Amino acid sequence: YKTLDQLDVAGKRVLVRVDLNVPMQDGKVTDATRIERLVPTIEQLAKAGARVVLLSHFGRPKGRHAPEASLGQLAEPLSAALGGRKIAFGDDCIGPEAERVVDALKDGEVALLENLRFHPGEETNDPAFASALAKLGDLYVNDAFSAAHRAHASTEALAHLLPSAAGLLMQAELEALGAALEHPERPVAAIVGGSKVSTKLDLLNSLVGKVDLLVIGGAMANTMLLARGAEVGTSLVERDMLDTARAIFAAADKAGCTIVLPEDAVVAAKLTAGQATETVAIDRVPADLMILDAGPKTVAAIVAKLEGAKTLVWNGPVGAFEFPPFDEGTNAIAQEVARLVQAGKLLAVAGGGDTVSAMAHAGVIDKLSYVSTAGGAFLEWLEGRELPGVKALAS
Ligand code: 3PG
Repeated sequence: YKTLDQLDVAGKRVLVRVDLNVPMQDGKVTDATRIERLVPTIEQLAKAGARVVLLSHFGRPKGRHAPEASLGQLAEPLSAALGGRKIAFGDDCIGPEAERVVDALKDGEVALLENLRFHPGEETNDPAFASALAKLGDLYVNDAFSAAHRAHASTEALAHLLPSAAGLLMQAELEALGAALEHPERPVAAIVGGSKVSTKLDLLNSLVGKVDLLVIGGAMANTMLLARGAEVGTSLVERDMLDTARAIFAAADKAGCTIVLPEDAVVAAKLTAGQATETVAIDRVPADLMILDAGPKTVAAIVAKLEGAKTLVWNGPVGAFEFPPFDEGTNAIAQEVARLVQAGKLLAVAGGGDTVSAMAHAGVIDKLSYVSTAGGAFLEWLEGRELPGVKALAS
């Protein structure tokens, strides 16, 4: 793919696919990481005299106009992230209204157009919709790695219609992820947490063939433990996944990948904050209690293994971190990982699902080598799949 520096953007209308799909509550952005990470690309383009036209989806409005999914509410937070820069807003992303806003732009100015997903053609990757978008620009930049697993008109078809390049965020994500898994320094470790084996099956199967050490944590470890014959009390488990879990152990053995499971656990009667807790060895989980976090021995064992690793990929918390004190295991591991990274001993990349909020909660978001802004795209990339939005940029 081409990089931003390779485009001559002065005086040109540059369509920039960004991902403004940020979490909001009561009209306020609750995590602005994705917005902040877009600043370098937008600033570089504006400084170089481009007429910057931002395209994004927001939520899942299913091809129809929906006021709660309007990108209008993101214009102000975006402007704030850009140091108060003026953002023109277009009520539609194609047609006369979009053309009016784009035509009014001067060199170095920025516009944001309404939610791409208000048109059904976005998600169906409709060539006519992509052409209507292409009419608005001279060049195309994709800075939405986190939407690159979607083969949509703005991420896929549009890349074939205009001279294209990766934005700085897209480039940073691809470089960080490539360093962690495509050409990593070995030994390579992965931590996979989260609640269900069933949602991470492809991920686990792909990782056992790539990494030297696979730490499985969170409730999905309960299913793996049960498959090994452990008693896990009232813990969340997927009983229909036991054969699958055994197949993962067998695949790991064959590939020479060591699987690390919890040695002890923090247990309680219910998953609510402020519960009375106990720490027990993993073969001593009481029948009426559930596993809710990794215990201190598990944390120490994981950290000891990571001391010997050169590269780490991390997806998913190892406990129910949203409910303190069940955040302690994840926090402790995150802080040790940050220490190893800061000491130059480990390259650590984290991302996918609620990993970003788990790392933010642990206070390490700026202390790891890279924390991806992507959810589903990070997982699909980790599964070894080709991302349509990345592929389209390269061809
Ligand atoms: C995300 O938030 O992971 C991306 O913006 C993709 O959103 P989607 O899952 O609605 O396609």
